[in-house]
Amino acid sequence: MTFIEKFQEICLAGYDQNWHERNGGNLTYRLTEADIASVKSTFNPRDWVEMGVKNTCLAGEYFMTTASGAHMRNMVTDLEHSAGIVEINNEGDKYRIVWGLKDGVKPTSEFPSHYLNHCVRAEETDGFSRVIYHAHPGNVVALSAYLPCDAKEFTYALWQVMTECVVIFPEGVGVLPWMMPGGSEIAVATSELMHDFKSVVWYQHGIFCAGNTLDDAFGEMHTIEKAAEIYIKQVQLCGGKNFTNTISSKHLQEIADEFGVEIRKEFL
Ligand code: 13P
Ligand code: ZN
Repeated sequence: MTFIEKFQEICLAGYDQNWHERNGGNLTYRLTEADIASVKSTFNPRDWVEMGVKNTCLAGEYFMTTASGAHMRNMVTDLEHSAGIVEINNEGDKYRIVWGLKDGVKPTSEFPSHYLNHCVRAEETDGFSRVIYHAHPGNVVALSAYLPCDAKEFTYALWQVMTECVVIFPEGVGVLPWMMPGGSEIAVATSELMHDFKSVVWYQHGIFCAGNTLDDAFGEMHTIEKAAEIYIKQVQLCGGKNFTNTISSKHLQEIADEFGVEIRKEFL
């Protein structure tokens, strides 16, 4: 499967999960040298465009991105109006379209957030992180009406309801209060949290997840959303946060030890 086919598969999978109403959500993937070589002959560079943010960490790199306004459902049937490939300039403050994004279509309005998050996660993972995925999963958004905007409380709510959560996101989940989407302010705020977390919840909006691979980012999103769904069911069943049974802090630490992951101890 090519990287483009995998990108399309993830978009459709997210749509099937009901995370992408209308044009909700967006996806970016940083191409490898091999990916670039496989498509470079089709590149047709256009004008440079300011991003409104700057970071030289991934200057000169190429990203596949969904288009602003794109419906994830159309990612296979109308790829070149729904996505494209952009190149970042040497100063790390502009992009130019080199493939796709036809007929005046632009990269996602969240491209500034995607780019800065890519930079931070690449730094944090020795360059292994290649994917940033933004979606609007309903249970996570609903939880943001119920839980205070506090990373420790949000993380613990998820860890305690499902055994594997602490293995998938041992560093926890970051949270941001409601902010205006699409600009440099939310991009900077999210990227600051991405030093500590692979995933950041935007209250009353959705989540940003990072991953080394497209499957990795999708799996992180899926796990967080499923745990949020279980948490909400537990609140409904138990009439509040006093659950009859839950995973204790001691057991969470034991799971982390067993699976060889480093849990964020201050969240226990
Ligand atoms: P785009 O259509 O510009 O990607 O925006 C969708 C979205 O989810 C904004 O947060
Ligand atoms: Zn969004």
